[in-house]
Amino acid sequence: MDVNKFRRKIIAGNWKMNKTVSEAVDLANTIKRELPDGCDMDVVLCPPYTALKAVGDVILNTRIKLGAQNMHWENYGAFTGEICATMLRDLYCHYVILGHSERRIYFGETDRTVNQKVKTAINSHLTPIVCVGETLDQRESGSAKDIVSTQVRESLDGLNVDLGKIVIAYEPVWAIGTGRTATPQQAQEMHAFIREVLSSMVGEEIAQTIRIQYGGSMKPANAAELMSQPDIDGGLIGGAALEALSFVELIKSLK
Ligand code: PGA
Repeated sequence: MDVNKFRRKIIAGNWKMNKTVSEAVDLANTIKRELPDGCDMDVVLCPPYTALKAVGDVILNTRIKLGAQNMHWENYGAFTGEICATMLRDLYCHYVILGHSERRIYFGETDRTVNQKVKTAINSHLTPIVCVGETLDQRESGSAKDIVSTQVRESLDGLNVDLGKIVIAYEPVWAIGTGRTATPQQAQEMHAFIREVLSSMVGEEIAQTIRIQYGGSMKPANAAELMSQPDIDGGLIGGAALEALSFVELIKSLK
């Protein structure tokens, strides 16, 4: 199977709780202007909710796609402070990050709630970017694979063929925002393992079509080597996505 046909590279910028509307518009405009022509990959910007509309307007009719950083699993109702999939679609979002470790750690997100959200996202024609990854303690105690396998199985429970419609992001918690990146070998080993877990859930053929991004201190200096690994299909970028030049430089380094 020609996996490149299904696993088009995907680079997504997760801006987290950064950028006012005007800062976000500036950043999106510069990225749009500086992005190299003919770069054959999906590029996604995930600003905070407050800047989704404005950034969406900047990238309208370009090949850059819009993503959100979270959403609720219900489609409407009395859930003060929450945002639903319908609202994201209304703003032309194509992607939504779900189960980021910061949401798991600080806001009590569980595999069960991630699973509910993934199902709603797919039903709403949003592509979920489902985040998994172990903490430093878990890696050092030798349980990283068990943890990641449970996260994958439970977050994606009951999805079956719909699994082909998702993106997974492997983000070791110890590498996020720390400047400490997984080595290409460590990342590849876990990506291949995640693909094995997916294969046991839906079969080899579908598992081979699922894109798995790496996230955790990915930057222009290390992106190309990470992305040269056979099971690494993209990057979820935090810090290096907050500056247009480093984000664009990272993308250019992959050409
Ligand atoms: P980082 O964040 O690139 O700043 O480590 C990645 C992420 O949290 O998605």
